[in-house]
Amino acid sequence: MRPRRFLPGGPLKGRIRVPGDKSISHRSIMLGALAVGETRVTGLLEGEDVLATAAAMRAMGASVERMDSGEWIVNGVGVGALLQPEGALDMGNSGTSTRLLMGLVSSHPINATFVGDASLSKRPMGRVIDPLSSMGASFDVSDGGRLPLIVRGASPAVPIAYRLPVASAQVKSAILLAGLNTPGITRVIEPVPTRDHSERMLRGFGAELTVETDEDGARVISIRGEAELRPQTIEVPGDPSSAAFFIVAALLVPGSEVLIENVGLNPTRAGIVQVLRQMGGSIEEISPREVGGEPVADLLVRHSMLQAIDIDPAVVPSMVDEFPALFVAAALAEGVTTTTGLEELRVKESDRISVMATALSAAGAKVRETEDGLVVTGTGGEPLPGTSGPVATHLDHRIAMSMAIAGLASRSGVEVDDTRPIATSFPPFEAMLEGLSA
Ligand code: S3P
Repeated sequence: MRPRRFLPGGPLKGRIRVPGDKSISHRSIMLGALAVGETRVTGLLEGEDVLATAAAMRAMGASVERMDSGEWIVNGVGVGALLQPEGALDMGNSGTSTRLLMGLVSSHPINATFVGDASLSKRPMGRVIDPLSSMGASFDVSDGGRLPLIVRGASPAVPIAYRLPVASAQVKSAILLAGLNTPGITRVIEPVPTRDHSERMLRGFGAELTVETDEDGARVISIRGEAELRPQTIEVPGDPSSAAFFIVAALLVPGSEVLIENVGLNPTRAGIVQVLRQMGGSIEEISPREVGGEPVADLLVRHSMLQAIDIDPAVVPSMVDEFPALFVAAALAEGVTTTTGLEELRVKESDRISVMATALSAAGAKVRETEDGLVVTGTGGEPLPGTSGPVATHLDHRIAMSMAIAGLASRSGVEVDDTRPIATSFPPFEAMLEGLSA
């Protein structure tokens, strides 16, 4: 464990560029590995989760290499040509790697064993096993549908039309990726829209993919299988989920003014910016543009007095990973912030509702846990008292970073029991924080 106390240190000032988007980074390596020829990726997130995806694609035959320039070169094997991996695929902490790769393996004539850390080994995989079984794959799974597990791919797999029972981009993407090597048309019906990076990138690589809206307003995504993907040059935009910690920090610490460059603002991801603005946060979009087929802008964030709100559960999918940071913002807002519809937070890297309730309470915030959310009574801008001992982060990077931010907005600091998990998604987080405080 690597504990650290995050202390208040005065206003945050300066400019930063957050690392590449984690979701897009995973997908660029996976699709590059399925396109014959050379895919070049700049701005790739070099966090442990993405490196787990890279190692898995190498184990299945692709070449994935980092150049001295920081660019990544992927030489793919082609759809249908993934090789049998020799050993188990170690997914570390990464649910995205696991679920998306389970989809890929499911329609290839190979078997793969998936293993992960203690956090990942508690997370439910039944949500992908169900549809992938209907496509013909079979599974040997640990109790409760968890890792370690073995996937035996089907060849040929059978196309399905599947209505998502949970709003999950990982489940959607697992099925679409399985559909890539499945004869005919595979369909995913998505009643609530989730991040659409897979759809955008599959199209970019030349897959035949359409998105329609049915009579109930659900998105119907169809992909034609046995696709031939063409290698691409990809520029990965900055991760809005990483930017969120600095947006909240700059809003909460008096006197702060921070420019965060190159932040991805895909509407299926940008809920946090919308909500913080509704709360009175000053977040200005500068030079909006497109990077790698995704909308991007620089964000100028200034300290603001935040007002509590009831958060509309309809925005949850577009900020599903940002609630730990939002709870910290709510803890310093004026009034009572209510969140509902957050059941999915209980099956992330940790149970983020309960873990944040405990951690924020330890820092002196007023928090009440409900079945599907948190009710947070803010201080009205007063710093939180701070913690007397370490708060438990349960191998969850976003809990560690959220509580670090809470420390900046506290009187005596917040001690986090373990900062190591931050490296899964945001290796330079602590260095950037120090740079802005200096
Ligand atoms: C992701 C989807 C989301 C998100 C995760 C990344 C993706 O998970 O929480 O961090 O890249 O598809 P769910 O699909 O489980 O909501």
